[in-house]
Amino acid sequence: MSDFHYRVAVLTASDKGSRGERTDQSGPLIRELVEQAGYTAADYLILPDEQQQISEQLLRWCESGEIDLILTTGGTGFSPRDCMPEATLAVADRLAPGIAEAMRAYSLQITPRAMLSRAASVICRSTLIINLPGSPKAVRETLEYILPALGHGLDILTGRDGECARQG
Ligand code: MTE
Repeated sequence: MSDFHYRVAVLTASDKGSRGERTDQSGPLIRELVEQAGYTAADYLILPDEQQQISEQLLRWCESGEIDLILTTGGTGFSPRDCMPEATLAVADRLAPGIAEAMRAYSLQITPRAMLSRAASVICRSTLIINLPGSPKAVRETLEYILPALGHGLDILTGRDGECARQG
């Protein structure tokens, strides 16, 4: 990864969290983990599980030119209000399914319930958007697994590195 500190926005989807009825643990944990990995935690929001509202916020960040990576948490399961993958796919310019596939493949070694994750990973403008699961435990497991590969992806996406020859 280049020396640039990529800027990360964190979005938590939670009806209760957005009303102040539940303390969000996963959003702050993501911020902590990315900061430890050398990223800048640039923005953080909690929104209700409303697809259009979420898509609008994702697009706002992607079009601002100020966010390189968006990590979302929550809303990837089967409950009727869960709409994070749909909100994410709605703003996709290009698909990057390998990241979500890798999280599921790794997580299946931890719990068969990982197959219930509907998470998506896409590119919008020059921002990478990745849906993480909702629980702090699952956030830590998945984010720690994918983080080592993300820097190289962001280097290529943002034009800081044009080739994949190096191993890392
Ligand atoms: N992935 C990991 N690594 N660890 C977990 O405990 N939980 C799963 C799955 N992925 C889990 C995981 C469960 S129980 C569900 S329902 C889906 O993620 C969706 O999670 P969400 O509804 O919290 O978004």
